[in-house]
Amino acid sequence: MSETIEAVLTQYSRKSDDLIPILQGVQKEFGYVSLESVKKISRYLRITENQIYGVSSFYAQFRFDPPGRHSIKACLGTACHVRGGATLLEMLERGLGISCGETTPDKRFDLERVACLGCCALSPVVQIDKNIYSRMTVTKLTELLKEYE
Ligand code: FES
Repeated sequence: MSETIEAVLTQYSRKSDDLIPILQGVQKEFGYVSLESVKKISRYLRITENQIYGVSSFYAQFRFDPPGRHSIKACLGTACHVRGGATLLEMLERGLGISCGETTPDKRFDLERVACLGCCALSPVVQIDKNIYSRMTVTKLTELLKEYE
């Protein structure tokens, strides 16, 4: 893993302006930015770890914990919202015991709220991993989650 972090780092200059692209590159490679990665980035750019966390906190895209095995995206764009998207999201948060942006303690699911998944005619829509599920209901979603044990 360390070799790959270094392989990512060598694609960028050692200028602090490259911090965001480096973080994006590391997250793309590993799915998140680990503590080990932050330490190596700190050494590579000669900036403190606190500076890295400070800058990255402005960007919701970065995660510093390993992702769950399955990624759930609940759509709350206009079409999905008017057709019950908020109810589905509430059910997910209550059922999984987490809020948007969090991972279940067993690392099974991540939950994220998105603005539009690009298939509004099929709303309300939920995406799990790469699969889009259309015209969802609380009942259908409850059954569906069992398939992702
Ligand atoms: S608003 Fe949900 S897919 Fe477009």
